[in-house]
Order: sequence, then C-alpha cells, then structure tokens
Amino acid sequence: MAQPSDRAAGDTPASARVFAQPLPTDRFPEGGMTARDAYELIHLGLKIDGQPSMNLASFVTTWMEPEAEELIHEQIRTNHIDHEEYPAAQRIEEWCVAMLADLWNAPSVDRTVGVATVGSSEAIMLGLLAHKFRWRAAREAAGAAAQRPNIVFGAETHIVWDKFARYFDVEPRKIPMRADHYVLHPDDVVERVDEHTIAVGAVLGTTYIGESDPIRELNDQLARLKDEKGWDVPLHVDAASGGFVAPFAHPDELWDFRLAQVASINASGHKYGLVYPGIGWLVFRDRDFLPEDLVFSVNYLGAAQPTYTFNFSRGSAMVQAQYYNFIRLGRSGYAAVVQNMLANARHLNELIAGSGRFEVLNPGLMEPVVTFRLTGEPDFDAFHISDKLREHGWIVPAYTLPPNAQHVELLRVVVRNDMSRMKVDALFGHLMAACDQLAGQGMPPTPPARRTPEDQRRRC
Ligand SMILES: Cc1ncc(COP(=O)(O)O)c(C=O)c1O
Repeated sequence: MAQPSDRAAGDTPASARVFAQPLPTDRFPEGGMTARDAYELIHLGLKIDGQPSMNLASFVTTWMEPEAEELIHEQIRTNHIDHEEYPAAQRIEEWCVAMLADLWNAPSVDRTVGVATVGSSEAIMLGLLAHKFRWRAAREAAGAAAQRPNIVFGAETHIVWDKFARYFDVEPRKIPMRADHYVLHPDDVVERVDEHTIAVGAVLGTTYIGESDPIRELNDQLARLKDEKGWDVPLHVDAASGGFVAPFAHPDELWDFRLAQVASINASGHKYGLVYPGIGWLVFRDRDFLPEDLVFSVNYLGAAQPTYTFNFSRGSAMVQAQYYNFIRLGRSGYAAVVQNMLANARHLNELIAGSGRFEVLNPGLMEPVVTFRLTGEPDFDAFHISDKLREHGWIVPAYTLPPNAQHVELLRVVVRNDMSRMKVDALFGHLMAACDQLAGQGMPPTPPARRTPEDQRRRC
C-alpha cells in the first residue's frame, strides 16, 4: 500500500533508494529510515522463507476467517495479563477453559481449573510441574521421602517432555519405541512406575506418525496399581493436536476426563483449534490438582490477581480468536471442518497407498496426518523426495523414527483447514513426478548428519 508521506520524501520507490544498502544485522543502527523503507526491506526479505500454506510439516494454523483476523488486529494492543484493566478479555479466557472442560467431559466443569498458554509446550510444563508439587506434598504428608521423582513417557512424545524432565530435575523414564510398534505399549509403562512417579504421559495424536497411545488401557493399568499398591499416579494427556480432533471425529473414543486417572490435558489452540500461533490450553480435571503454592497473586496492576503461567505479559488476541472459533463454529462447525480435513487426508492416503510405491503408516487416520514410507528397493530415499518437493514449494519433512524403530524412514503431510482437494491432488502429482525423476539417477546416499535426532526434531 502506498504511503503518501513517504512518497513525498523523494517520490522514488524503495528499490531506487535503499535496496542496495546492507541491512543492519549485528550493531544497533545509529539512525533510522522511513517507515515504508523499513517495511519493504523486511517484507521482501521474509519472502525468502517458505510459504506457510505450503508448509505441510507444520500442524500450526495458516488460515483464519477475515472476521477473526479483524478481531486479532483489534486486540493486538491488549496485554492479557492486565486482568484488572481488561476484565472482559480475562473472562473470555475463563469461558474458553470451561468450554474445553465440557468438551473433554470433565465430571464437574465447576470444579475444573485451567489456563491459556503460549502453546502446548508451556501447558505441558505447567501441568507436569503441578503433578510434581502434588506428589511431593502427598509424600511429605505421609512422612515419606520426597526425593528422586520420576516421570514415565514414551519416545513417541514431543521434545517438550524431555525438556520438562531436564529443566525441572525429574528422572525421565523414557520408553524406547518398539521396532514395529510406534506408540506406547501399556506393559512397558507399568513396569517403570513406582511410588516416586509424579505422572505418566500419553499422547493423543503423536508428532511422529499421528497415531494415539492406548490411553484407555493405560488408565486401566494405573487404576489397577492404585487398587493394588495405593499409588495414585495421574495420567497427563498430551492432546496437542488430537484434543481438537477426537471430540468431533471420534466422540465415543475414551481418552479424556471420562477416564478416572486422567488428571490434566493440554491442547494447542494453534493446531486443530484453528487459531494462529501462539495459543495453548491446560485444563485440570479438578482444582485439587493445582497446588496453591504454584498460584501467585500480584497486586501491582490494581487488584489482587492469581497467575499460573511462566510468562507474565502476553498478547490477548489469540485467546479472543480462540473464543471466536468456539462460538462461530460450535461443535457442529468444528465437526464439519474436521470431517473435511479427514476426507482429504483419506483421499491422499488412498492415492499414496494405490501408487504401489509407498506404505501408509497410519491408515486409521486418528487425525488428518498422512505418514508413509517407500516400499520395494528404490535407488532414492525419503530425504531425496522431500528435497525434490521443495522445488515446487512444498514443505514435506522426511525423518526417521526414534530408537528402536530408527530403521523406519518416512514422510509426513499434515492436512490442515487450508488444504483443498485441488491442493491435495497437486501435491500427489508432484510426489509421483518426484519419484519418476529420481528413479535411476544414482542419487548420492543421504548423509548420516541429516538423520541425527537434532536434525529430525528441527524438521518435525
Ligand atoms: C504431541 C505434541 N505435543 C506437544 C507439542 C508442542 O506444541 P506447541 O508447539 O504448541 O508448543 C507438539 C507440537 O507439534 C506436539 O505435536
């Protein structure tokens, strides 16, 4: 958009004035530039990056309705922590938490407590920290030693679970993947639980292949341990992506607060909650799960207000955008969007499976995520395909599964709400063309560095 004031400065486009200047990068600039020039330089510089709507590596929302964007724009100046100044914004967060408790079948919505976070990572850390504190309080109340807490989770989890263990000094009892089974096996969990276990983690919609851990079976095993040994170990469900899919696509699937040991659930509003980044949610089944000493009260914004987050200041816009989606779509609207995404994922699954070149790894499609690996003995690999698709702008990650399934090399396509059938068909066409072009070319083997866990995580 042309800015009259900047034009008056010389009536030449930015490309005639500043495009040859090196951008300030490592020293604070002495002087400034016109607003238009600053905008053009950054705007065009960022065009080097991939196009978000073709980034099929990411679960994060890349399209919202214009009215939602208008609301976001209006709210962009609101600091969400200023509860005293913005009580309506705060109330909307509380309403969202209550609605999620209802969606996830809490036994009593009035007894639940929860919070909006920047994403699932913050939500998971806050949830697990509460379980650590609660475990310690229970041990001390029983006169038992509260040392060496541990947490049990599987290799199918997101990196944030390892981060929690390291940052908060909890022993990670991490279960390796089985060579031919890419989610948790309940037996592997139970043998690692003891009276020092602060929580067990389970995933609804894994980052690696989009499947789910056997949450109902895990709940039953933990309930049995409670009866037999008196260990009341809470289950935290990481529903980062599945929390906004399962209630609409698989409402009878038991994974949420209908299961007695499920004490807390997180989800990313910015994934299938259909909001732009960064919004996540944490909900406890009952306020007793959130120890009081983790909730701080501050009065320097005008009135006593409780906070349970890592950040203090944060934007309010995405909280409001989440509420927009809740009332705009309702259950029926979310169900319709989810059904469309699943139908497109199913279509892509069928095309890929029918191509004769690939095996689909999650035909059940718990969520609209398509994961597949090459079959036969082609003279190229998944990494070559990923690179080839980049030539057409598609970002489709290739990676290997964690130990002991690291022999599985796969590609993943996250189908989001901005993926129409036309786009799915175009992607499949390019996928087939990539295979045809690569075959018989004597591709050099993909370097081992590309298969390191660090590189994989970056790509996942
Ligand atoms: C299962 C799972 N848990 C946690 C996360 C982290 O979520 P966020 O990016 O919202 O912090 C992700 C992100 O992809 C995920 O897939």
